[in-house]
Formats: sequence, C-alpha cells, structure tokens
Amino acid sequence: AIERTLSILKPDATRRNLTGKINAVFEAAGLRIVAQKRIKLTEDQAKAFYAVHAERPFYGSLVGSMITEPVVVQVLQGENAILKNREVMGATNPAQAAEGTIRKLFAESIEANSVHGSDSAENARSEIAFFFAETEILP
Ligand code: CMP
Repeated sequence: AIERTLSILKPDATRRNLTGKINAVFEAAGLRIVAQKRIKLTEDQAKAFYAVHAERPFYGSLVGSMITEPVVVQVLQGENAILKNREVMGATNPAQAAEGTIRKLFAESIEANSVHGSDSAENARSEIAFFFAETEILP
C-alpha cells in the first residue's frame, strides 16, 4: 500500500551539508518527498517528540543534540514507505548498519545517526501531525 512516513535529517547531517545527498538516497529508493521544511527545534519540541524515550539514559543527550543546529523534517510517500525508509536508513547504530544505507554512509555515532524515521504506521501518523498540517503535504 502507499504509505507516508515522517523523516528527520538530524543536526549532524545538516551541519555537514548532507541534505541533498540524503534526499537523493530516498528518491533513488522510490520515496517521494511530499512535504519538507528546515526548522530549528526548540527544547520543548525535542523533548515532546522523543517523549517515548524519556526514561532512557540517552534522553537528555539526545534532546540536546537535536537542538544544536537546524533539522529538516519531511514526509516521505511511497509503496511500503515506512519499512522502505527504515531499510534505506539502516540500523540505529551505524556500526551495525548495512552497506549502502544512509547511516552506514553518513552517521557519526549511535546518537548522531543522521536520520530519524517513523517505526510504525501509528507513529508515522502522529509524527507527521507533530510537524505538518495536512494542507502542507502535496503528493
Ligand atoms: P532515532 O531513530 O531518532 O530514535 C531515538 C534516537 O536516540 C536514535 O535515533 C539515536 O539518535 C538516539 N540514541 C542514542 N543512544 C541510543 C541507544 N543506545 N539506543 C537507541 N537510540 C539511541
């Protein structure tokens, strides 16, 4: 089925001017960027977006890292977009990411891992709504 997923190009990626290179990987995989904006997350936004990880030891550091530089938030659309995006991102830890994946190619560390992508249909819906009005998504 045609799905939508929420993607974030993280500060480590925007800082190194990798927006175009990462978008090229998405597009080559058949994912269409149907909404996109470059924003600076506030601390409250980063905390709320990652609230599911609030009890994890890395939460404070993760929130801090997400507000150092702008991020690019985007909606990717395509056949099986949620799983396809997770495949092209590769494993969370770049040391375990497969050859050719975004995290293998570009990530600096498990925290500065260049990209975020929704991990389920339910989370995709809520994460897209966190950043985008329906009128901003133009398939
Ligand atoms: P992301 O897919 O955005 O989801 C949670 C983020 O927490 C993850 O990518 C990493 O950036 C960060 N993180 C830092 N340490 C860990 C860890 N040990 N396990 C999982 N995620 C981590």
